[in-house]
Amino acid sequence: MQIRIVVAASENNIIGLDNELPWRLPDDLRFFKKMTLGMPVVMGRHTWESLGKPLPGRLNIVVSSRMEQAPEEGTQVFSGLEDALDYLRGQEYEEVAVIGGGQLYHAALAYTQVVYLTRVHTVLEKGTAFFPVLPPEEWQLTWEERHEADDKHLYPFTFQKWERK
Ligand SMILES: NC(=O)c1ccc[n+]([C@@H]2O[C@H](COP(=O)([O-])OP(=O)(O)OC[C@H]3O[C@@H](n4cnc5c(N)ncnc54)[C@H](OP(=O)(O)O)[C@@H]3O)[C@@H](O)[C@H]2O)c1
Repeated sequence: MQIRIVVAASENNIIGLDNELPWRLPDDLRFFKKMTLGMPVVMGRHTWESLGKPLPGRLNIVVSSRMEQAPEEGTQVFSGLEDALDYLRGQEYEEVAVIGGGQLYHAALAYTQVVYLTRVHTVLEKGTAFFPVLPPEEWQLTWEERHEADDKHLYPFTFQKWERK
């Protein structure tokens, strides 16, 4: 089973502020949907709380040691990331997407083969959640496509695909 991470991070690796996204980038949300549709999405409890409802068309897996039961239909809760991944392997999924937030990305990176990183071209001053640095000796950039700022997108950004060497 392949594990992909899908994330958007500023130049200084900030991904969240006060349990929300630090920006509104509709074309990145569209890209996120394309990169996750049809596969299970795995998220930490804070990200679940920030979404507030399951992402449609995808099995939503929440990792939490505190939540006891699945909050809504279409979601499942596991007390650890490894338990969640073992369950998904048993269901014979070919690929799953880890969709945040900071804590879950840090825990999942070791199991991950591909990272779809939207690099948002700004250095933010404040952040409360972070993406780990991808060590260049372990990861190579295999594709990228730039998106300029416009009236709907305050910052320019670049979609990047990173693959484990
Ligand atoms: N820019 C992006 O692409 C992106 C994507 C997603 C989220 N975000 C942002 O990221 C922020 C949230 O990130 P976060 O780091 O605060 O929280 P998070 O990773 O979403 O959730 C953390 C919680 O998940 C559970 N958890 C995480 N890893 C675990 C593990 N290995 N084993 C067991 N439980 C684990 C724990 O829940 P319990 O305390 O219940 O045990 C932990 O308190 C928000 O601001 C959100 O908007 C950004």
